[in-house]
Amino acid sequence: MDEKMKQIEQTLSKYGQEQLLDEYNRLTDENQKHEFLDSILSIDFNQVKTLYEQGQKETVFVNSKIEPIEYVDKSKLTKEEYEELYNIGADQIKKGKLAVVTMAGGQGTRLGHEGPKGTYDLGLDTHKSLFEILTDIFIKAKKEYEVEIPWYIMTSDENDDETEKFFERNQYFGYSKNCITFFKQGKLPMTSTDGKLLIDEHHKIKEASDGHGGIFRSMIDDGVLYDMKARGIEWIFIGGVDNVLVKPIDPIFVGLAIKKNVLAAGKSIVKASPTEKVGVFCKRNGRPSVIEYSEIKPEMAEKRDENGELVYGESHILCNLFNIKAIEKVGKMQLPYHIAVKKASYIDKDGNLVKPEKPNAYKFEAFLFDAFEALDNIAILRVLREEEFAPVKNADGEDSPETARKLYNSFFKK
Ligand code: UD1
Repeated sequence: MDEKMKQIEQTLSKYGQEQLLDEYNRLTDENQKHEFLDSILSIDFNQVKTLYEQGQKETVFVNSKIEPIEYVDKSKLTKEEYEELYNIGADQIKKGKLAVVTMAGGQGTRLGHEGPKGTYDLGLDTHKSLFEILTDIFIKAKKEYEVEIPWYIMTSDENDDETEKFFERNQYFGYSKNCITFFKQGKLPMTSTDGKLLIDEHHKIKEASDGHGGIFRSMIDDGVLYDMKARGIEWIFIGGVDNVLVKPIDPIFVGLAIKKNVLAAGKSIVKASPTEKVGVFCKRNGRPSVIEYSEIKPEMAEKRDENGELVYGESHILCNLFNIKAIEKVGKMQLPYHIAVKKASYIDKDGNLVKPEKPNAYKFEAFLFDAFEALDNIAILRVLREEEFAPVKNADGEDSPETARKLYNSFFKK
């Protein structure tokens, strides 16, 4: 037996992953066999083991001191305060110091849309896709600030090609091609709920996007940070692809971060109810943090102050601003992984494709907002939901195309 095979068998047996060889034995094409072995060799089995073990433990904040976080309410700024922040921020924007990153690596499974989520037609009279709605913001800003703001779009292996082709086909919706850069986020293997690596329908080890927390490292590895520096960028707005009222080019937001002398800022809205599916800003052991909706304890989510307001009611809407220095710092760190149980199709030991009806596999994801804890402080700008938050998440009901369309139309009618 050759050395490579021997090494692989030892590793698989050490980590209890011998089932991968069933797939190897089924493959008939020599090239495929080699590729498969190479993909086994590229896996960090120790990392997979640690991640899986983490998944067995509940996320608890027992050793953390959680407190509410301070914020500035945009709608309550006096005229003087508003103008001061506006002037600081607008000056930076006009000088070309702001760039925007849109995270579009997610699959939009909940929406039930085939293809990259950004290509989804919101159903407006104009039939604009989410990407076109975003592009409009850059075209408007070009007129307002007389500058072309660089736009970086993070895709994933699954949707990179389709995303780039979509922009190309639509001539970048009228924005300059050289101001739009695509880069890809990283991946990690998935495991079954009993810790086994899976085989996907393409006869490869099943992997999934490693969450948007890997963005900082990808920005460094893919040369995005280098490109930003070459363009003289200092502030980077990072947001999701699915909020059709997002305001990525906001002088007040940039102005606030500079005035408060912080390296990052986040926008919040008042949480609608304790069960709304949004993360909340807070302080954890004195440091800025976000607790995700999937991890918050009901007691904490429901806690109210003497005025009946939710104590942890500053919702994180995935509209965050980072100084380039903050990105350099957190890009060198490993953010923690969070675990989600997902439905993942796979090839079973007899070679049959299984499409599970119930969640059967762990997906490991790092969250971008965990980077806040590496910073001493961040500024929070509370904004109005009807002005800045209209997410498209689900096919119907809450946060659906229908609710987003209504919010979008009523905002632009004004
Ligand atoms: C997200 C936030 C939540 C916030 C809510 C507001 C996370 C983990 N949580 O929840 O705190 O209150 O939005 O709407 O983000 N994406 C990638 N790569 C990935 C995963 C996601 O690019 O690996 C992108 C998606 O394309 C999307 C955005 O990140 O643009 C949010 O992802 P999604 O999974 O929809 O997050 P939510 O659960 O809605």
